[in-house]
Amino acid sequence: ARAVTASRPFTVIGHRGARGHAPENTLLSIDTAIRLGADWVEIDVQHHDGELWLMHDLTLDRTTNGRGLLTAHPAAALRRLDAGDGEGIPTLAEALDLIEQRVGVNVELKSWNGCANAVAACLREYIADGWPAERFLVSSFHLPELWEFKQLLPEVPLGALYCGVPLDWAGLAAELGAQTLNISDEFVDARLIADAHARGLALYVYTVNDETRLRTLWQMGVDGVFTDYPDRALAAVGSEVR
Ligand code: G3P
Ligand code: MG
Repeated sequence: ARAVTASRPFTVIGHRGARGHAPENTLLSIDTAIRLGADWVEIDVQHHDGELWLMHDLTLDRTTNGRGLLTAHPAAALRRLDAGDGEGIPTLAEALDLIEQRVGVNVELKSWNGCANAVAACLREYIADGWPAERFLVSSFHLPELWEFKQLLPEVPLGALYCGVPLDWAGLAAELGAQTLNISDEFVDARLIADAHARGLALYVYTVNDETRLRTLWQMGVDGVFTDYPDRALAAVGSEVR
């Protein structure tokens, strides 16, 4: 492992807020991530019935007291659901109003309904109100959706999100003009890190909750991590980079 240098940033991204401490993708979870010192928060967004909902799954069952597909319910019914600890399912605007530019926001497009248009419209409003475009990072596993988003709001940085390593991962990232490569931990190795850096891409790794692994990734040269426990990531590298 290379020597740890004090000057290199290590971006701690709270995964679905801070889902190790609070119900995922809720305002409480986001607030907890910020309180614990995360630099960014990652949230999953879906478009349905005129709203952008913070929700990871297609269905409501795992994370709320509702049942079935999110898209089977009108907005009014979704608003009444409990997403854990008495928290509702927030909208993207509600999340951004809570965050108030205190941390960067990685909006992950969950694209089974197509949400590029609605997310672009929402972020455009916040940018017009003074939110720096570079404090957003929009990502998706659905790269054509990401491409569509880029045409709508090119000033917002993109993260090419992979759960594996496609043969032409670098070509796809370059075509998108992505600034970050967001990749599952199991696919990270020294060659990929070096290759990404040589191409000017920051490498963000999900989802990393083990302190030893967090420290190892930092020492390997990874630029940031998605973690359910922002406190652990900070503890793993804290004194050297903060
Ligand atoms: O964006 C990183 C990570 O959240 C991607 O996977 O399934 O947790 O949304 P998932
Ligand atoms: Mg996600």
